[in-house]
Amino acid sequence: MKQLYIETYGCQMNFADSEVVASILSDEYRLCQTAQEADVILLNTCSIRENAEQRVLKRLEELRALRKKGKSLKIGLIGCMASRYQDNWVESHLVDFIAGPDSYRFLPEILSDAEAPQIRTELSTDETYSGIIPKRYQTNGISAFVSIMRGCNNFCTYCVVPYTRGRERSRNPEDILQEIRTLSEKGYKEVTLLGQNVNSYLWGGGYGFPQLMADVAKTGHEMRVRFTTSHPKDLSDELLETMAAHPNICKNIHLPAQSGSSEVLRRMNRKYTREDYLERIGSIRRILPEATISTDLISGFCGETPQDHEATLSLMREARFDYAFMFKYSERSGTYAAKHLKDDVPDEVKTARLEEVIALQRELSYESHRRDIGKTFEVLAEGPSKRSDEHFFGRNSQNKVIVFPKEGTQPGQMLNVTVNNCTTATLLGKITR
Ligand code: SAH
Ligand code: SF4
Ligand code: F3S
Repeated sequence: MKQLYIETYGCQMNFADSEVVASILSDEYRLCQTAQEADVILLNTCSIRENAEQRVLKRLEELRALRKKGKSLKIGLIGCMASRYQDNWVESHLVDFIAGPDSYRFLPEILSDAEAPQIRTELSTDETYSGIIPKRYQTNGISAFVSIMRGCNNFCTYCVVPYTRGRERSRNPEDILQEIRTLSEKGYKEVTLLGQNVNSYLWGGGYGFPQLMADVAKTGHEMRVRFTTSHPKDLSDELLETMAAHPNICKNIHLPAQSGSSEVLRRMNRKYTREDYLERIGSIRRILPEATISTDLISGFCGETPQDHEATLSLMREARFDYAFMFKYSERSGTYAAKHLKDDVPDEVKTARLEEVIALQRELSYESHRRDIGKTFEVLAEGPSKRSDEHFFGRNSQNKVIVFPKEGTQPGQMLNVTVNNCTTATLLGKITR
């Protein structure tokens, strides 16, 4: 069998897709651990910010060194950058072929038939890779991702995803539940359902995300269930109530705010105001008092004033985010913002604002962790911690990382851990019996 090496960049959807790709190619290719051994190298790429694309282009330049005379190595570009490829990438032999996120079923043909088109980037309105069982080569056997939808229809003005992944489409619930059953039978302890906006999941008219969550929670009743990402405009109380009703649905909501200024949110086309966002936070606190809330924030979007930036800082304090992913605005060609709005916040101002946002979040995360000292949580042990061989790390339902002495326990066990200390990034604890 020929050897296949896949390198994955970007979000969890790409990690899930790499397992679909490995499955599609599994009749003819065996996965290998290094690029050096491979007959085919695939880079599953991300376009979300400029540095994500730069990293891949640099990696491709490095991989050129592996093209030796006499050896037929093929290098392919898949994932989001495929939808934004430039002709000279193929002409200059940076890559041999390109397959976009909806073209993975063509990979066997692209690889075996030199006459077949080597650039397939058309986007589909209905491809969900139904019938393909992902080859779970990246997991620890404990926790797995299950994608429930593809694409995005929201067209936030800064974002490439609607262009790279195409229109939103939901996966058949039968397929999803079958995958959940299989994971449960294999002994998995946790699944994370994936979509760009899971709250707009819809099947056959009336079957929405709360119904799917309830069915997943029942089908995988001995597993934990997580999901990401929720768009604030579509997060319903019905979903929060479903979460409250099922103990195995984890109590963490990732609710990207992007900005605390209604004016910036309008320019971003997020379709909610600061007040709408805080109203949703209020509902979460009321219906799920024990839940953590995490977010994504962008600093330095087009036209962002010092007051807008202050509004983001004050939103962070009001919402009391437990953790956050924070980014500097990066203009992406082809988006509405690139075409119609001016990227007018100077880079050093973007950096300074981002640093303030990060510093504030560090304080908020630390306070959030301090509030957990003395509490006991159910923790799913995932594996050895970076700290020492004698420690495991795991996460509680709230998605916080806890490090604790392993004391003869095994990864995959659900343990009661009492928190006795913390850093800004992790909780420290001890198993209680
Ligand atoms: N679908 C998710 C986000 C997916 S992208 C949602 O709408 O919440 C993950 C994060 O990357 C976004 O939440 C945003 O904070 C960030 N991001 C997207 N485009 C960006 C850009 N052009 N510059 C900087 N950050 C960006
Ligand atoms: Fe991008 Fe907005 Fe879609 Fe999220 S919801 S993927 S930020 S366009
Ligand atoms: Fe990146 Fe595509 Fe995900 S742009 S963040 S890999 S959807």
